[in-house]
Amino acid sequence: MTQPINILVIGRGGREHALAWKLAQSPRVAKVWVAPGNGGTAQSRTGAAPIANAPLSESDAAGLVNFARREQIGLAVVGPEAPLAAGLVDTFQAAGLPCFGPSRAAAQIEASKAFAKAFMTRHHLPTGRYAVFSELPPALAHLRAVDYPVVIKASGLAAGKGVIVPDSPEEAEEALRQIIAEKVFGAAGDEVLIEERLTGPEVSILAFCDGRTVVPMPAAQDHKRIFDGDAGPNTGGMGAYAPAPLVTSALLDEVAQTILQPAVDGLRNEGRPYVGVLYAGLMLTKTGPQVLEFNCRLGDPETEAILPLLQSDLAAIFQACLDGTLGQIEVAWRAGAAATVVASSEGYPGSYPTGREITGLAEAEALERVAVFHAGTRQTETGQLVTDGGRVLAVTGWGDTLRDALSQAYAGLERIHFEGMHFRRDIGAKAVNDETHQLS
Ligand code: AMP
Ligand code: GLY
Repeated sequence: MTQPINILVIGRGGREHALAWKLAQSPRVAKVWVAPGNGGTAQSRTGAAPIANAPLSESDAAGLVNFARREQIGLAVVGPEAPLAAGLVDTFQAAGLPCFGPSRAAAQIEASKAFAKAFMTRHHLPTGRYAVFSELPPALAHLRAVDYPVVIKASGLAAGKGVIVPDSPEEAEEALRQIIAEKVFGAAGDEVLIEERLTGPEVSILAFCDGRTVVPMPAAQDHKRIFDGDAGPNTGGMGAYAPAPLVTSALLDEVAQTILQPAVDGLRNEGRPYVGVLYAGLMLTKTGPQVLEFNCRLGDPETEAILPLLQSDLAAIFQACLDGTLGQIEVAWRAGAAATVVASSEGYPGSYPTGREITGLAEAEALERVAVFHAGTRQTETGQLVTDGGRVLAVTGWGDTLRDALSQAYAGLERIHFEGMHFRRDIGAKAVNDETHQLS
């Protein structure tokens, strides 16, 4: 084996903590830096490579490259979409530094929904009907002409807020006005999509890609709404579990063959080879899986539920993706399931306080088959952990069944406290019922 390497994970959320946690378990890894990281990535665990934060923003490409040179980083890993869309991987590559994630050109699959839809049409990927507009009168005329319910989307990156699922034609018109005329999403709304509204359960299927080979991960389901029973406003994600029992191994194969592989082949053939994690947001409709969107990165909180299931060495997988040898290595998953439950701040997804003391983390982490991933936390000068964001923690449990995984995650949460802490109590509840039916 070659000399262990230093890794730089770029980002500050629960996804990046889970990446750092998993990478630190690799015998190939000497140290994991996270830039800028959070309160959880400011700490290391015994029995794994040390983890530490570097005080650099995701958007500071020059600073990150300098840091990578200075600290002899052997592999950088970019978590969020914004730096990928801005070309951070290209900047690292131009500096001769290995960096896992799609290039700016390949990240267009998420950064431009207009590009993604046209791409899917060219390559015959299953997705709903759509049209793109940059001016209001033709958009309104199209809206009045279509005979199906619609979804309105800003084409560009809008921090997860650019999709409106209107309840009435008036609401759809209002959304178009706000995006096109009032520019509520700024330049992200220069192009607007009017899409056919699909129905069915949603699943996230993520895959490692080396430009050619596609290795899917266990399917996951996210929970977007803030309250139990999918009530209340949309959030960045309140919990997830994997594998999703709805996605049988036959369906996972079908998605790999009819969606993921043609997408990666199409991107390569168009001169945008896709190296990184490709995330397909799918709706399982009556006529089969349809693509709602592609993301150019791992999902959050899906990552916090998926990575604890990975048995293989994540650093080796990322290196194989960069080397174009993903087809030659084993990517193994443990049997059973994992679930993550997000603890959020009072008021989230609206405005919320920060700086509230968090207790019980050590007690939660002492439990078997539990990991506490930090999202919006900060370590104070005295070493105290305090809240520092809307989504504060993602507490993951795993076990032989989804029921076991959930009971571990909730056991962890019960030990943790901060003032105003909120979490959903029904993560995975529907799937547990399905699992019980399948086992009985
Ligand atoms: P996105 O930001 O593209 O993931 O969209 C956010 C959410 O909007 C998705 O998770 C879906 O619940 C919903 N959505 C997006 N596109 C459609 C569509 N074509 N039909 C129905 N729901 C959609
Ligand atoms: N969990 C949804 C996302 O990462 O986009």
